[in-house]
Amino acid sequence: MDEKKVMLSGIQPSGDLHLGNYLGAIKNWAERAESFDCYYFMADMHTITVRQNPADLRRRTLEQLAQYIACGLDPEKNTLFIQSHVPAHAELGWVLNCYTMFGELSRMTQFKDKSAKHKDNINGGLFTYPALMAADILLYQPDYVPVGEDQKQHCELTRDVAQRFNHIYGDVFKIPEPYIPKAGARVMGLTAPDSKMSKSIPEGCVFLMEKPEDIQRKFKRAITDSDTENCVRYAPAEKPGVANLMNIYSAVTGRTMEEIEAEFAGQGYGKFKPAVGDAVIETLRPIREEAQRILKDKAYLESVYKAGAEKASYVANKTLRKVYKKIGFVAR
Ligand code: TYM
Repeated sequence: MDEKKVMLSGIQPSGDLHLGNYLGAIKNWAERAESFDCYYFMADMHTITVRQNPADLRRRTLEQLAQYIACGLDPEKNTLFIQSHVPAHAELGWVLNCYTMFGELSRMTQFKDKSAKHKDNINGGLFTYPALMAADILLYQPDYVPVGEDQKQHCELTRDVAQRFNHIYGDVFKIPEPYIPKAGARVMGLTAPDSKMSKSIPEGCVFLMEKPEDIQRKFKRAITDSDTENCVRYAPAEKPGVANLMNIYSAVTGRTMEEIEAEFAGQGYGKFKPAVGDAVIETLRPIREEAQRILKDKAYLESVYKAGAEKASYVANKTLRKVYKKIGFVAR
């Protein structure tokens, strides 16, 4: 029997999950859960590169797990775990730090963005974060890493580091491919379609657990464009706001841009924006309701993350032992 291909990804519980996380990453994970051996985690160790409120971090980590499950990631079929529960991440992270170059890390756009935003806390972890991310990935020898467009650069660095390591020590790591969706890879902010949707601009960001009326209000206020055409036409350079709404609508309904143009021909933005809002609301409604239900069952959540950490540790430790042996550490 052929072995299943392996998929792995993670999200930082540094804020509430939003539509960008869902369309860029989680939706893709859930749709492929049956055909792959999947590992998904809450990247709590990454979040402390920026100062966090401890109580909020703890709460959001568990909420994120409930939302993963509510999005269709069945814990029986997927390994769901909390990054800090698998110490091999920190251990391989240190090793890979020593195989990742200063120049490579300096070129990472996420580092440049975050150090511009948090000028008073440009710490070592923020800079070496991609080496920890490489460890997160390479420990599980995945074939694919399903992420949004913004994580492509980190995935490419991971491949470079893995290749460098393999070149010195032989075939230790599988070289993974980023797996980026066609629609939804880069969801832009509703109030500023020139920057990606992120929790830092809450008015332009739709959260998975948000109330339908709040979601609809955000879509009705979404920036379309400054022309007077008032026509739903896919032209990303001229009409970035409209293109973003069309991308979102396409990602949640599965319709193509041509089908969307035809559906709204002659109707203008006044009809289009609430229709996108409704489609998003209906996509998120069952997720929100299910996540609220699961969140009440703390014992269940605990059983999921404990079993997940055990399964993940088994796989991760195998890779770590191999790495330690190759680099010359004495076996424990
Ligand atoms: P993070 O936590 O910023 O985002 C999690 C996932 O959501 C995607 N995403 C988006 N996709 C489309 N449009 C958007 N506006 C949008 N915003 C976020 C991201 O591309 C990502 O897939 N470094 C990672 C977390 C991480 C990780 C890993 C991922 C740590 N270790 C190992 C994969 C494998 C991060 O900061 O993603």
